[in-house]
Amino acid sequence: MCGIVAYVGPRDAQPILLDALSRLEYRGYDSAGLAILNGKGVEVRKKSGRIQELASACQKKPVQGRIGISHTRWATHGGATDINAHPHLDATGRLALVHNGVVENYLELKAKLAKAGHKFISETDTEILAHLVGDAFASSKAQGEERLVEAVRNAIKQVQGTLGIAVIHSDLPGLVVGARRGSPLVIGIGDGENFLASDTQALAPYTNRVVILQDQEVVALKAERYDIASPLGVRSDIKVEEIENGVTASDKGSYPHYMLKEIFEQVSSIQNAFRGRLDHDGATAKLGGLNLPSEELRRIERIAILGCGTALHAGMVGKYLIETLAKIPVETHHSSEFRYGDSPTSPHTLFFAVSQSGETADTLGALREAQRRGFPCLGVCNNVASTIARQSNGGVYMHSGPEIGVAATKSFTSQVAIFTLLGLLLGRLHTLSASAGHEILQSIESLPEKIGQALSHSDEIKKVAQKYAKTKSMLFLGRLANFPIAMEGALKMKEITYIHAEGYPSAELKHGVIALIDKETPTVLIATQDGVYDKNLGSLQEIKARSGRVIAVAHESDAKIKGLADDILPVPETHPLLQPLLNVIPLQLISYHVAVVLGRDVDKPRNLAKSVTVE
Ligand code: AGP
Ligand code: GLU
Repeated sequence: MCGIVAYVGPRDAQPILLDALSRLEYRGYDSAGLAILNGKGVEVRKKSGRIQELASACQKKPVQGRIGISHTRWATHGGATDINAHPHLDATGRLALVHNGVVENYLELKAKLAKAGHKFISETDTEILAHLVGDAFASSKAQGEERLVEAVRNAIKQVQGTLGIAVIHSDLPGLVVGARRGSPLVIGIGDGENFLASDTQALAPYTNRVVILQDQEVVALKAERYDIASPLGVRSDIKVEEIENGVTASDKGSYPHYMLKEIFEQVSSIQNAFRGRLDHDGATAKLGGLNLPSEELRRIERIAILGCGTALHAGMVGKYLIETLAKIPVETHHSSEFRYGDSPTSPHTLFFAVSQSGETADTLGALREAQRRGFPCLGVCNNVASTIARQSNGGVYMHSGPEIGVAATKSFTSQVAIFTLLGLLLGRLHTLSASAGHEILQSIESLPEKIGQALSHSDEIKKVAQKYAKTKSMLFLGRLANFPIAMEGALKMKEITYIHAEGYPSAELKHGVIALIDKETPTVLIATQDGVYDKNLGSLQEIKARSGRVIAVAHESDAKIKGLADDILPVPETHPLLQPLLNVIPLQLISYHVAVVLGRDVDKPRNLAKSVTVE
């Protein structure tokens, strides 16, 4: 979602801000802008559209100065226009502010400010915030730099909602003030220069030393120092962390898109998810990060999984895995629904919040709600420095490496891998036999090779994609653990091709969805040979009987289905519990290839954000 970058130091700010912003592009945005103190006042450039548009505007009329703030916006209040793009100025035009989040009570605040004579030029909630800080600055009794810090503190007290902000003022040419409530911000520490950014990816070429700003904190950032304070006082125990350098555009290697690279990376990302976690002696899994001894794990009577989008689909496969292996009932919740719903919680429930980014506002809110009710909540995250990873009571990291494509691919298979381990671990604490445990471990070990085999069909899948790319609508069907795989396949198709797609349990077809079947609406049917294979063939026949076309995800060796389906997306065979992990791969590939045929912006599809940090 939107990104913030600020710089203060001895170098020219404009090229640094533009470069760092482009590293946040993957988060998704619709406009971009920057404000720099040029020695006389604040100078702003902002544009709707890609960062390239902003860069061209800056090239035509460069802004000189060594301190600045910048932003990529994902519109919540007001369309994606040049005027609504950030930064926004206060009433004096001497203060500029960028904001990530939502001011929920902005109408109320706007009315109050308007009454006092304030005029607004944009439709955003953010401009209200800029005016509020400006007013607080004007009325502050504090001196020097403390004046802006105090103004920010006082202004945000009046705001309901979430915010990550960065502010500069032309009266204070060496200072950036940042504040965080709900939206992430990190301080990047350079040599005689400092940065502020929404995530560490932005800072990759500049520094690997960061301090994560905590919720409710305000930072006063200067070239040589930074001071952090929360409402409780100044933070003295500042922990500087070293991060691994993020990726850059060239890291796409020979792949045309990050998404394709990340799909192919699954051979290794799955190994990373399993590495060090297989216990052959005990025929079980080791998940030290859960921070729960065996006796406590044995007492768990129920598991609740929270997530959004792809992460929730992984949780739904997890439900199937845990219930099958450990016979522990599992409920899955859309984070946003759990957060505000009344769903009752049973005692001895262990919660999991699943999130690649670890910053999804809905999932963070749901996690906090579970904790508020007194339940431990563990995280399944990829981003180690993320808010969810920090807020949870323990968890399991995915170790997938950065996922830049907005459509989640490798993070999904890693999440499913983790739930496989969890199912195995809990199963072995209950009734799962050692031989059954060994069988799973052996199949896990051969998974990377089988993923490679599934990927080797990419060119065949591309041909199928070319055949169906002109379709307006598609169905995805699967049963049991392949039902969430069907949902995931449909989500990928929608996200990057903009083709309407729905995922359903196969048998739901006859309860309504079948009305959509005709020659123009193809169905992707997951029909690998398992306990419900014959049932799936029944669904296939029902579709064919109504002139529908079927693309079947089927075992490479399945000769029978070749005579029945119109097209095949082949996958190798594995342990039935691991089969969904392979079945998703051709679905990722077909969406990718269709998107390329249609000329879509694969890595940055319209309207979407990589990590959704607003509700
Ligand atoms: C996946 O392709 C989507 N972009 C989206 O559904 C995503 O999975 C969801 O927003 C959750 O993100 P998270 O895993 O970072 O919490
Ligand atoms: N609510 C603000 C706006 O619509 C900020 C959105 C964002 O986080 O990018 O401008």
